Amino acid sequence: MNKKTQVTSANFMLHGGDYNPDQWLDYPEILADDIRLMKVANTNTFSIGIFAWSALEPTEGHYQFEWLDQIFENITSIGGRVILATPSGARPAWMSEKYPEVLRVDAYRRKQLHGGRHNHCFSSAIYREKTQQMNRLLVERYGNHPSLLMWHISNEYGGECHCDHCQEAFREWLRVKYLDNLKALNHAWWGPFWSHTISDWSQIESPSPIGESMVHGLNLDWRRFVTDQTIGFYENEIVPLRELTPDIPITTNFMADTFDLIPFQSLDYSKFSKHLDVISWDAYPAWHNDWESTANLAMKVGFINDLYRSLKQQPFLLMESTPSGVNWHPVNKAKRPGMHLLSAMQMVAHGSDSILYFQWRKSRGSSEKFHGAVVDHDNNSNNRVFQDVARVGDTLENLSEVVGTNRQADVAILYDWESNWALNDAQGFGMETKQYPQTLQEHYRYFWEQDIPVDVITKEEKFDSYRLLIVPMLYLMSEETIERLKSYVANGGHLVMSYLSGIVNEHDLTYLGGWHQSLQDIFGLEPKETDTYYPTDENVVIFQGHAYTVKDYATVISAKGAKVEAIYQKDFYAETAAVTSHSYQEGKAYYIGARIEASFQRDFYSQLVSDLQLEPVWKVKHEEGVSVQAREDLTNYYMFVMNFTEQKQSIEFESTVYDMKSNEELNRQQELTPYEVLIVRRPK
Ligand code: GAL
Repeated sequence: MNKKTQVTSANFMLHGGDYNPDQWLDYPEILADDIRLMKVANTNTFSIGIFAWSALEPTEGHYQFEWLDQIFENITSIGGRVILATPSGARPAWMSEKYPEVLRVDAYRRKQLHGGRHNHCFSSAIYREKTQQMNRLLVERYGNHPSLLMWHISNEYGGECHCDHCQEAFREWLRVKYLDNLKALNHAWWGPFWSHTISDWSQIESPSPIGESMVHGLNLDWRRFVTDQTIGFYENEIVPLRELTPDIPITTNFMADTFDLIPFQSLDYSKFSKHLDVISWDAYPAWHNDWESTANLAMKVGFINDLYRSLKQQPFLLMESTPSGVNWHPVNKAKRPGMHLLSAMQMVAHGSDSILYFQWRKSRGSSEKFHGAVVDHDNNSNNRVFQDVARVGDTLENLSEVVGTNRQADVAILYDWESNWALNDAQGFGMETKQYPQTLQEHYRYFWEQDIPVDVITKEEKFDSYRLLIVPMLYLMSEETIERLKSYVANGGHLVMSYLSGIVNEHDLTYLGGWHQSLQDIFGLEPKETDTYYPTDENVVIFQGHAYTVKDYATVISAKGAKVEAIYQKDFYAETAAVTSHSYQEGKAYYIGARIEASFQRDFYSQLVSDLQLEPVWKVKHEEGVSVQAREDLTNYYMFVMNFTEQKQSIEFESTVYDMKSNEELNRQQELTPYEVLIVRRPK
């Protein structure tokens, strides 16, 4: 884990971003300015061609690559590198006109008109053929270009199509999955419910609001199919690239869901990540919003970073971010002074080897003309945003040593896309309060506050290397996952699980005969029922003599050998177990039966961390709102001390550290101004 993994051939931090010269081909003076300004901004890497299909193939079969040749040369002339995109994220109008099958059909079965982007049918044979053809031309022309650093496949894959081709593909996917056995499908989908038994494959339709699907097995399989079909489309795109440039890494830009900063919901990235060489993602947190503290938002960004980094256990890339505001939040606020460097360094601290932006130059027209960019409409390098970008570039130049370094964690939190889908589909519990990703972030919070590194892993990962594995609200659990968790504990692992875990199997069918026996063995208890609260309902649990408030969910537990750690104070289950622990073979398993306020997580985990001696490895004393994150190689920790508060903060290093820029030993006591970040090296 301490060894370096360089994810691209660049041994420097990438700085730059989405560059759309295809919007400016009639403005040669602007294109010339771009190249001049790129140097001034200390940038070195540009993603090009993302939405350039109509500039590359203005009419069918007539190609124009000369402009792109020139852009390659321009970037090369300043020693820059190119991340070349395949343009399938948006297609030219001629294609939609001539081959309407490339257009998506929505869940209401309405055929979409040409417009927008990210709206093609993933099953369309024609669109697959056209993209592969275009990608082959791109790789033939630029595959050997010395400045080509990486492939950027399409853009932010997402969404779904319900056209006839997709219906057929879905049926075929199901036949493969259920081995052509309709009985097995009907069983998995609990067919007889509301007479949904299917007597022929042709009756299967994707879920739709018109004829709402209450068949949870169908909904779950549809989501799995959409992920597989998207991956299939992507795999088709990369055929010529793998063939002609096997050594050029491939990525596609992942997302978070909305500005709320939870993992992207509609595709199972744990599956998709297996097909990529490098994980990259687009981060647009709403800094300075009016509903949460800066530190709270920073914690959520940290969580996603740790999830996406853990997908491949190697550095990732920040593929897009804004140097200032965006154009699609409800309020598009500019970053306050200091925030740009701080937010950029937070990404690097968690494992990013790049700071890339959307966009290099603000577009002149259409919907993104007011989206933050490095170069504004003033075409000037003297404004605040440009200067902030140049400063980030300058800082990154001192961080080449950090490229390829990773992080090592003894603690893991398990995130599962499928379980989230199934839980959201479940009609029961509190319809608004399930909040699975947010709940995981609540558990992550303590470790983020204490500077204890965490991997956010998926269920396919190995558990054994972690001292502590936290599995809140894992509603859907296959027998296989249950058995893996059991052997994790049996072999000495410490497992924390919560209410609403282990309720359904991989078909979204409930387990029969009570909680799964293996879970009962591990935890020494059985959850009997889960009480759901109105927003005004509350309970209280007492843990180690302190009272904590319970909201939303409380599970009534029948302890069968488990030690009771906390008890409820109210209601018909007053005086019964709310939190338990249980030794199982070599390990120990903790069950948190209720949704308890944050201070409980703090006290509970702080006890556990001290029992397991999982002290923060980076050892910096600080107050709340300062985060210390680090990357490491064999000899050094590279520590980022970040002040996510609007106040000055005093910090103290507990060992000798050196400034990354000057290499000079630093005074152990330091004062950070609001939003300041200090980057230091601590020899191991
Ligand atoms: C991303 C997208 C970019 C740009 C950006 C604006 O989701 O990939 O093309 O639209 O949002 O924030």
